[in-house]
Amino acid sequence: MKKIISVVGARPNFMKVAPLHKAFQTYSNIIQHIICHTGQHYDEKMSKIFFEDLELPKPDYYLGVGSGSHAEQTAKVMIEFEKILIEEKPDLIIVVGDVNSTIACSLTAAKLHVKVAHVEAGLRSGDMMMPEEINRILTDSISDYLFVTEKSGLSNLANEGVNHDKIFLTGNVMIDSLINYLPKTEQSKVHEKFGITKGKYVLVTLHRPSNVDILEQAIKLKDLLNTIAEQRRIIFPMHPRTLQKWENFDLFNSLNSNIIITEPIGYIDFLGLTKNAELILTDSGGIQEESTYMGVQCITLRTSTERPITVEVGTNQLLGNNLDKAREAALSVLSGHLKQGQIPELWDGNSAKRIVDILVQKI
Ligand code: UD1
Repeated sequence: MKKIISVVGARPNFMKVAPLHKAFQTYSNIIQHIICHTGQHYDEKMSKIFFEDLELPKPDYYLGVGSGSHAEQTAKVMIEFEKILIEEKPDLIIVVGDVNSTIACSLTAAKLHVKVAHVEAGLRSGDMMMPEEINRILTDSISDYLFVTEKSGLSNLANEGVNHDKIFLTGNVMIDSLINYLPKTEQSKVHEKFGITKGKYVLVTLHRPSNVDILEQAIKLKDLLNTIAEQRRIIFPMHPRTLQKWENFDLFNSLNSNIIITEPIGYIDFLGLTKNAELILTDSGGIQEESTYMGVQCITLRTSTERPITVEVGTNQLLGNNLDKAREAALSVLSGHLKQGQIPELWDGNSAKRIVDILVQKI
């Protein structure tokens, strides 16, 4: 019997590990699959609801590291995860995405000579001001198996000199979850709950430090939302980081009443909101991909994207922090000028199976 530990830490990790966990069940006679939650995200709305929506079992380990500075958070995960590796002696660990828990656990494992698989490897924004970019580069450099979602990942890893025997283009596990749970959105009552009409609202998510931590940029974004709200209702599920900043900056004053601010929303309801949005404004990584899969118009309020395929073949527009341009593009979409898109190669719901089949052969 081989033992594999998958790590989840923050909200965008849960929908990536759920399909892997399911795929490992086919091999339960030869693989013991253990889930370790670092506790980087800990709120009911940022974590627990995702376990329920994604039918994930209670994690085998919960490290409870919570919030802190980057160094504190990363260090706490490393200290706690090392104890588990020493106790469990796994044959492999799996990390996903680019959050602090990803680099913390891969580094801890590599130092103990435990093999590391990185799912969603090779993505690069080229922006070292993003903590996620540092996490991506470092994690890839110490991983033994690198599973890539889109072709840009292959060339990025090749440029960094990663041996091509370690790299596999397997598609997008987050899209596996999306495909699996999309039918359930039909039962979601989220639109009724907020009194919004399908196809006639704008969905907004913003949490990147570059958009919410700097007063000047935060004010400009609020002004942008106020302008769009003159034409459409906006629903804005607010990340805890954004809520703290908007309170500190006193941005809830003079907000157009067409803007609905809510707490973070669970997985199924959020998929329902994404699918039926007329337009999405976001700085999230995952939402760029989910909207591309669903063919929903998306404007990304960042200067770079590590997911270029969503712009090249998908419905995503990358409009940087020039908010005049973003306003123009948003109003253009709302007047019916839509960007046509396609679904990227291998985003077909079978990525987790491909990854697990490879790992079973390799370990
Ligand atoms: C993290 C990831 C980011 C990902 C995002 C999704 C890193 C470097 N960043 O950013 O890539 O897109 O998650 O949400 O790992 N907080 C709560 N409750 C929670 C979690 C966080 O109140 O359950 C608060 C914390 O107190 C902190 C803030 O939110 O002030 C930021 O949390 P943190 O996990 O450090 O980073 P994110 O900004 O969420």
